[in-house]
Amino acid sequence: MSFHSSTRHRPMHSTPDLFDSAPAAREAIADGAWLLRGFALDQAKLLLDAIQQVAAQAAFRHQVTPGGHTMSAAMSSCGQLGWVTDRFGYRYSEQDPLTQQCWPAMPPILRQIAVEAAAAAGYEGFEPDACLINRYETGAKMGLHQDKDEDDMDAPIVSISLGAPIRFLFGGLARTDKAADWKLEHGDVVVWGGPSRLFFHGVAPLGKRAEHPLTGPVRYNLTFRKVRV
Ligand code: SIN
Ligand code: FE2
Repeated sequence: MSFHSSTRHRPMHSTPDLFDSAPAAREAIADGAWLLRGFALDQAKLLLDAIQQVAAQAAFRHQVTPGGHTMSAAMSSCGQLGWVTDRFGYRYSEQDPLTQQCWPAMPPILRQIAVEAAAAAGYEGFEPDACLINRYETGAKMGLHQDKDEDDMDAPIVSISLGAPIRFLFGGLARTDKAADWKLEHGDVVVWGGPSRLFFHGVAPLGKRAEHPLTGPVRYNLTFRKVRV
């Protein structure tokens, strides 16, 4: 069984019999949490195109936390609900506060890969209604946090990395639990749910030399959630 990120795996989602025919490239990173290396590699260019289409309607912006801190990752959203923060708090909103319009629909190619990744991690029937898009430039990071603004805690979180590599931190139920460190590369997908649904996680600052041929010194992250029960 090989977990080397440099290995180009057969896309798991195109082979229903994969688990009979080839070793699964899924690596447990915690109870209920899986790293699917290269799972989105074949679709990556299309996913990046879809991100640009969403961003043409709902521009990337740096949101402010309730504590008054401007987030270093720029964000947009698509789907029925988008994740927003301002001085009044963190929440999901049906409208983009920048335009007062509905968020762009979730592009089918995004939804499909998220559903397939969830299933590959053992979470069948994932029905995301929100996709947060994070854009990291040099030095941008995401401090350790829990994804807990969703009503539905039974559904997993599906997180797709595109572009420059970054260090992903995955801890435990307490903020002080030691967080393990995983290098996430273009096309990697992390899925967590069940016992690890509320585990603390974040990303280290995007390195000065981090880059990818398709995005330059930029990393994108797509995080799919089911918010409403
Ligand atoms: C997040 O937790 O919202 C983003 C994590 C990541 O960028 O990988
Ligand atoms: Fe998160």
